[in-house]
Amino acid sequence: MQLKIENISFRYNDKSPWILKDINMKIESGERVGIIAPSGYGKSTLAKIIAGYENPTCGKILIDGKEINKNGFCPVQMIHQHPELSVNPRWKMEKVLNECWNPDDKMLEKLGIEKEWLKRWPAELSGGELQRFCIARVLSPDTKFLICDEITTMLDVISQAQIWKALIEIADEKDYGMLIITHNMHLAERICTRIIDLRDINRRV
Ligand SMILES: Nc1ncnc2c1ncn2[C@@H]1O[C@H](COP(=O)(O)OP(=O)(O)OP(=O)(O)O)[C@@H](O)[C@H]1O
Ligand SMILES: [Mg+2]
Repeated sequence: MQLKIENISFRYNDKSPWILKDINMKIESGERVGIIAPSGYGKSTLAKIIAGYENPTCGKILIDGKEINKNGFCPVQMIHQHPELSVNPRWKMEKVLNECWNPDDKMLEKLGIEKEWLKRWPAELSGGELQRFCIARVLSPDTKFLICDEITTMLDVISQAQIWKALIEIADEKDYGMLIITHNMHLAERICTRIIDLRDINRRV
């Protein structure tokens, strides 16, 4: 499958400057594309547009040439930098985990999720523990592309390594196409199949 970002431009309103201008890129299944650019440049904005959280001012997001159906399950799923902002604080972890699909024991084990955590509230988990849930819950069989926006930035190096090892194994198995936003060039070089500097493909002035 192919995820195509076609002539995407974005600004917050008519008077504000363009953040993204005429962005074109393609991600094939199985690819892991790294995106780098300085802080405040527009990486998260692009991620949100691709995952359907924000509408582009112009341009299209296509899968195999077709626009994504806004009503069904979105095959492009996003994992955010701050897991504590991505879960409902009033839901126990069991409910958070099973909202879209039911990850099996093998998946939980692979991501280092302990059964005992399922009975807890989000506030009773560490950021790294919570992020493992945020990853597991988007890996449904209908997911085809994963957008990862600095998903391990707040974690220690051991948790970072564990999470990326598991995620890449799963992505290889399921043949996901991935977009990986990071400030960590060392990480990008290790896990990505290619790296794009957003400044090189952005035509904003
Ligand atoms: N809701 C908003 N209204 C207006 N401007 C915004 C809004 N959200 C973000 N911006 C601006 O859009 C620009 C791009 O922000 P974005 O979050 O995409 O950057 P980023 O590359 O992800 O940065 P970082 O590496 O720090 O995460 C920034 O200048 C930011 O101030
Ligand atoms: Mg960002």
